[in-house]
Amino acid sequence: SKVLLLNGPNLNLLGSREPDIYGAETLATIERRLQAQATELDIELQCCQSNAEHGLIDAVQQAAQDQVAFIIINPAAYTHTSIALRDALAAVAIPFIEVHLSNVHAREPFRQHSYLSDIAQGVIVGLGAQGYSLALQAVARHLQTSQT
Ligand code: DQA
Repeated sequence: SKVLLLNGPNLNLLGSREPDIYGAETLATIERRLQAQATELDIELQCCQSNAEHGLIDAVQQAAQDQVAFIIINPAAYTHTSIALRDALAAVAIPFIEVHLSNVHAREPFRQHSYLSDIAQGVIVGLGAQGYSLALQAVARHLQTSQT
C-alpha cells in the first residue's frame, strides 16, 4: 500500500529551527528512518514537504490520483489557519493521522486549535520525531485489518 508523509512550512528547517522545541534531527534524517520502517512494513512511502499552502493541497489532491491509502501529515502552522487544507483532506477522503513534534497544547493559545483534528483518524502531539514512527506503525496496523 502507498502512504504519503506530508510536512508543512518551515519543517524543511528541522535540525536548526528552534531545536529546543522541535529537536536536533533534520527532516532528511527523519524521512530516511521512516523509509526504512516503511520497507519493513511493506509500505511504499512517499515523502513531501512544502512551505506553501497550495503545495500541500496539490499533494493531497495528487495522493487521490496516486491511490494513496493513508496520509501522515504535520501541517505545521497551517494546522491553525487552513480551511483550504481541511477541505482538501475531506474532499479526497483519504484517512490521515495528524502529527505535531511539539506539545501544541502546552504552548501559545493560538496553537491549541486545529482545523484538521476533528476529521483526523488520530492525532499524535508532543513526542518529537518519534510521533511519525508511531503514526506509521498505526497506519500499518490499520492497513492490515482493512485488507483482511
Ligand atoms: C508544529 C506545531 C505548529 O504549531 C507549528 O506552527 C509548527 C510545527 C509541530 O510539529 O510541533 O510549525 O506542527
